[in-house]
Formats: sequence, structure tokens, C-alpha cells
Amino acid sequence: MRVFVTGASGWIGSAVVDQLLAEGHQVTGLARSETSAAAIAATGAEVRRGDLDDLDSIRAGATDADAVIHLANKHDWSNPAASNAAERAAVATIGDTLAGTGHPFLLASGVAALADGRPATEADRSPFHGPDSPRGGSENLAFEFTDRGVHTVSLRFAPTVHGHRDHGFIAAIAAIARQKGVSGYPGDGTNRWAAVHRDDAARLVALGLEKAPAGTRLHAVGEEGVPTRVIAEAIARAFDLPVASIDPDDMPDHFGWISRFFAMDLTATSMETQQLLGWSPVGPTLIEDIAAGAYA
Ligand SMILES: NC(=O)c1ccc[n+]([C@@H]2O[C@H](COP(=O)([O-])OP(=O)(O)OC[C@H]3O[C@@H](n4cnc5c(N)ncnc54)[C@H](OP(=O)(O)O)[C@@H]3O)[C@@H](O)[C@H]2O)c1
Repeated sequence: MRVFVTGASGWIGSAVVDQLLAEGHQVTGLARSETSAAAIAATGAEVRRGDLDDLDSIRAGATDADAVIHLANKHDWSNPAASNAAERAAVATIGDTLAGTGHPFLLASGVAALADGRPATEADRSPFHGPDSPRGGSENLAFEFTDRGVHTVSLRFAPTVHGHRDHGFIAAIAAIARQKGVSGYPGDGTNRWAAVHRDDAARLVALGLEKAPAGTRLHAVGEEGVPTRVIAEAIARAFDLPVASIDPDDMPDHFGWISRFFAMDLTATSMETQQLLGWSPVGPTLIEDIAAGAYA
């Protein structure tokens, strides 16, 4: 398949590109800079220069492909509205472009706010609708295109897609711990985060491209929930730091932009995904990765 991948130079995207190429797909990655273009080209994939703010480049990439995997995100935590607007506009553009083709459209999503008091399942629908909601309501928007002949599949990644060189949430939490000289966790540290190793996530994306029916919500989840206290203790051991509970009132001051995420209970299962695709996460686990120096 000729696959257009946005975010191909990113943490998850670069692993997905490697996986797709290894499986014999032709991949074109969207690159917004020379650096990203060079990184994508080095993998053996083709490069399409463009930007989330240049919807013509997104449209052209989707037009020339048999499938689109949308993983780019601005991740501007100081201006989430701008990130969400760009996300929604990109998804609308890809959906419009693929309408009537039956082509696969896989897009990144998350597991937040899907279920209250229990791990989220694939059956849980996203409560986020419309441009003002998290991620611009992009999952529900993308599913609207299934009625217009688009083979939409949502990729709900655990809040930590971990591994060596990860620069995401756990890297930020580890950096804060080193900077403050203490590895903190929110309150009693019993809120939990689902986790998945990056390689497991990339294998799942490739399987989803080939096998997931239209309208499927896939959970890239290897571990249902790791308590934030256990995460903080692992970071403390890795960097020889003390560990401490952070009072909920002090969370924003201590953790900055990541405080609201680290205080959330973000658990999810992947049983349906595993049964549907025959996918098994094989790890390593988040704590094994931290102990192995993935965040050093
Ligand atoms: N990592 C996780 O734990 C996790 C968890 C849940 C959901 N997700 C979602 O999964 C997707 C991939 O995440 P990730 O961790 O791989 O993110 P990432 O490492 O931050 O990569 C983001 C990608 O988006 C590209 N990008 C950013 N702004 C762009 C713009 N204006 N125009 C074009 N491309 C742009 C980046 O390009 P450059 O290389 O040029 O910067 C990069 O390729 C995202 O939607 C993310 O929200 C991730």
C-alpha cells in the first residue's frame, strides 16, 4: 500500500514508518522542516514537504496515497486551542479528500475521559465533539466520514508510549524530578496511567492498517494502569532522588503544564483490540524501561 503518514518524524510516527517499510509498504512522510525531511528520508521513505497549517499539502498527500495515518500534532501545551484547531482542520481535510474512496484513514487519539471509575474500553465512545473540545473532537469527526466512504480507524494510544529516546510525558516528568531534586507524584499516587511500549504501538498501527474494520477504535495499551506513585518511585530509583507526594494544590506549581495530565486517572484495556487483531503487547513495561535508563 502507498501510505501517507503525517507526524512521520515523531516519536510514534518514526517507529510506524519503520514498521510499514519492513512490511513492504511504500511510505510518504509529511515533513515541515529540512531536519524532519532528512530524518524521514534516512528511513527509506519518501518525503512530502508540508505543514499542518498548509492544508493543501495534507490534501495532496492524501490524494496520492492508498491510506493515510495521521500522527502529527502541534502539541503546543501553552496554546492547546491552536493545537486542537490544527488537528480538527487536518482531520476534516483528510476525511474530505478520502471521501468515496474506501481508503483507510487511521488517526491518533487518546484514552482520557472515556470512562469514569473504570478502565476505558474500545466500546466507550469519545465524549469530545466539536472544535472546542480536546483534540478538536477529531475522533468523532473522523468517524463521521465512515458514512462518506472513508475507512476510519481510531488509534487510541496509552498516555505513555514509552521507550528509549521518548521525549513525551514521562520524559517531562523525569526532567521535572531531576530539576526539582525530588520525584513527585500527585496526592496519594493511586491514580493510574495506561502504558504501551513504542514498538508494540507501531506493530498495532500496521496491523490496524491491514486488518481493522471501518469504525474500529483500537487501544494501543500494553499495561492497563501503572500507579503514578509507582512511576515516581521508578524515576526516583533511576536518578537517585527522594520521592514525595505533591499536594493537589501544589501540582501546577510543581509540575507546570503536565500537572493536569499527571493528576488524571488514565486507565484503559486492550482486550478487544488484542482479540480483533491477534495483537499481543510484549513490552518491556514502563517501569522496566525507566530502570533500563530510557529516560537518562
Ligand atoms: N506519545 C504518546 O505517549 C501519545 C499518547 C497519546 C496520544 N498520542 C498522540 O499520538 C500522535 C503522535 O504522538 P508522538 O508522541 O509521536 O508525537 P511527537 O513525537 O511530538 O511527534 C509529533 C509529530 O508531529 C509533527 N508536527 C508537529 N507540528 C507540526 C506541524 N505544524 N506541521 C506538520 N507536522 C507537525 C512533528 O514534526 P517535527 O518532527 O518536525 O517536529 C512530529 O513528526 C499525536 O497525535 C499524539 O497526540 C501520543
